[in-house]
Amino acid sequence: MSDNTNMINLCELNTMALQSFAKERICLTNLDEVLSTFTHLKEKQQKFIILSGGSNTILPPELNACVISPTLFGQKILYEDDNLVTLEVMAGENWHELVIDTVTKGWYGLENLALIPGWVGACPVQNIGAYGVQVEDVILQVTAFHIPTLTWHLLCKQDCQFGYRDSLFKHEEGEWLITSVVFQLKKNPVVNVKYADVASVAQQLAKQAGRNTITPIDVMQAIIQIRQSKLPDTKELPNCGSFFKNPVISRAKFDELLEKFPNIIYYNLPDPNMVKLAGGWLIEQAGLKGKGIEPIFTHSKQALVLTNHRPCQASQADIQRTMQWIISQVQEKFSVTLEPEPVWIEKDGYTWQNH
Ligand code: EPU
Repeated sequence: MSDNTNMINLCELNTMALQSFAKERICLTNLDEVLSTFTHLKEKQQKFIILSGGSNTILPPELNACVISPTLFGQKILYEDDNLVTLEVMAGENWHELVIDTVTKGWYGLENLALIPGWVGACPVQNIGAYGVQVEDVILQVTAFHIPTLTWHLLCKQDCQFGYRDSLFKHEEGEWLITSVVFQLKKNPVVNVKYADVASVAQQLAKQAGRNTITPIDVMQAIIQIRQSKLPDTKELPNCGSFFKNPVISRAKFDELLEKFPNIIYYNLPDPNMVKLAGGWLIEQAGLKGKGIEPIFTHSKQALVLTNHRPCQASQADIQRTMQWIISQVQEKFSVTLEPEPVWIEKDGYTWQNH
């Protein structure tokens, strides 16, 4: 085992609490530092990684790369009228605090995305989504630094190429540093309660408050309650939310599965030839709920989530072992290949040669 005395311990900087050490970390505190830091790294051809809230990142035990964290704070109203607010938020702001802050001010659109861990700058990368809303629904623009060319870009929503847990920033991983996100929020309190459990908890909350109509605050609080009841608190049981994406398969393959498994949980998609399956259901039906290979197990209340039972000791290899086991068991039972959702960081991070 190598001596980590002079290394930076990243255990508390990744919500999976994986053992990970790096030689150097730079926290960017203003936009000038973004340009000067990457110019310097490029001159030295120094490898790097980008680490925000660490809630969707699987880190290696030892990083031979400089860790860059966009600790950029602040928010600014770019436009406001009786119906809308256009709000620019810097990348280092905490996501859930932003949700509470905007909804409390009467600016709506983020309420269904309450309690998602992480920083604002990471939200476009995987196009965070929950309870019928994806962040692309409220994003107007993203400001990002293109690392290989050392240039600034203002990307509109279309430029971001959003998909289910997907975006340009995921395709071109390690090439972009997002510095701020512009959201378009509404003042009209229209709620999205397409999910039956959200509707019923929100309804109850409204009733308790003596109201007949559900407000966005009810929706936010309902979602906080539902998430707390199913998803482990990262501080108590380290995890990175859903570890696998819900798999999308062809309608033809789905029809075969439906015949064999009439209770299969699925969602129709805008493309009639494709069907999305509930990955958590597949894992549970394969008998793997609460199971795993020590010390990484699927969560006992939500099998799509992997949890680390040995914080700051478990490693990327431990994740790999449980992940491969689950993928192969689900493949064997359903002939469906689960795909991991988090970003997997290699020992050398991103190199300039790749760019
Ligand atoms: N299910 C099971 N067993 C399980 C887990 C789920 O049978 O162990 C079934 C549930 O009963 C339900 C269905 O699968 O019928 C879907 O489960 P759930 O509503 O918990 O949502 P999910 O599809 O597992 C997705 C997102 C979550 C998001 C929820 C709510 C992905 C990869 N995950 O999970 O996002 O909070 O929907 O909208 O799309 C995240 O990305 O980190 C995340 C937590």
